[in-house]
Amino acid sequence: MTKMKVFVTREILPEGLEILRKNFDVDVWTEYAPPSKEIIKERIKDADAILTMLSDKIDAEIINSAPKLKIIAQLAVGYDNIDLKAAKERGIYVTNTPDALTDASADFSFALMMAISRRVVEADKYVRAGKWKVAWHPSMMLGAPLRGTTMGIIGAGRIGQAMAKRGRGFDMRILYYNRSAKPEFEKECGAKRVELEELLKESDFVSLHVPLNDQTRGLINAEKLALMKKTAYLISNARGPVIEEKALYEALKNHKIAGAALDVFCTEPTPADNPLLELDNIVVAPHISSANTVTRTKMSVMNAEDITAVLMGKEPKNIVVGK
Ligand code: GLV
Ligand code: GLV
Repeated sequence: MTKMKVFVTREILPEGLEILRKNFDVDVWTEYAPPSKEIIKERIKDADAILTMLSDKIDAEIINSAPKLKIIAQLAVGYDNIDLKAAKERGIYVTNTPDALTDASADFSFALMMAISRRVVEADKYVRAGKWKVAWHPSMMLGAPLRGTTMGIIGAGRIGQAMAKRGRGFDMRILYYNRSAKPEFEKECGAKRVELEELLKESDFVSLHVPLNDQTRGLINAEKLALMKKTAYLISNARGPVIEEKALYEALKNHKIAGAALDVFCTEPTPADNPLLELDNIVVAPHISSANTVTRTKMSVMNAEDITAVLMGKEPKNIVVGK
């Protein structure tokens, strides 16, 4: 019997590939840059499964070019790049990797928050550029404290809650904005549920943890930024389009807020001439929040196990779209 075929759109960590290779014919796109739409269509025309990245746009045209496709396993928690409706119509499972990256993501949100508020990146550049001429000065590179300040969590899912827990460890007060109340979270972190406007007005650090959808696209616009304190910082490793970048640029340039730290952009990779990159009061990263070896290994295994389950006629564990 010929083996079932799995197309993997990037070289994922080896543990996941080893699991897949036990049972299936595994076709891996080994180039560092993503395959084009035409290439994906060509490679999945006889595939039973595809393992995708958040940077692969998996639209109806791609889905419908694969008559045998049974599962789309996404190496991410977010799945706004996949046409879920088209998958559902075809009875194709969509799975993702929740939990595995919760701590890694929250760690990176916290790292971004520390980096912008204590000017870590700016300080590094300062030393390397030979600008450190005076050994010590009481007002050299003053930053903002964390203890006793307020962290505002927008989107109290797993990652938002994990970020809040870290803030709690630094004696920060926690506010959150979420569609539903989270009583356990409130108890555990002393978190208080508030309206978005109140959160923006009161927080010293606003951290975004919502998925990208019709309700969250452009959520942080000029009007919302205007509610924030002049001394406040905006942190995001959610999805780029949750923030209107032009509005953020204006707010940062005119010092309407103190700073921002972003791991995500409206277009990725963000062009080198993105005006945001001209500003000093911003720290940026290339969408690497889940990038630690342990986490990326776990993610590859979760996808591989879900693909194996579906191709063996069983239910996968991490269902976004099921039967
Ligand atoms: C990363 O951005 C993810 O959604 O996993
Ligand atoms: C995101 O917040 C998640 O639920 O993992």
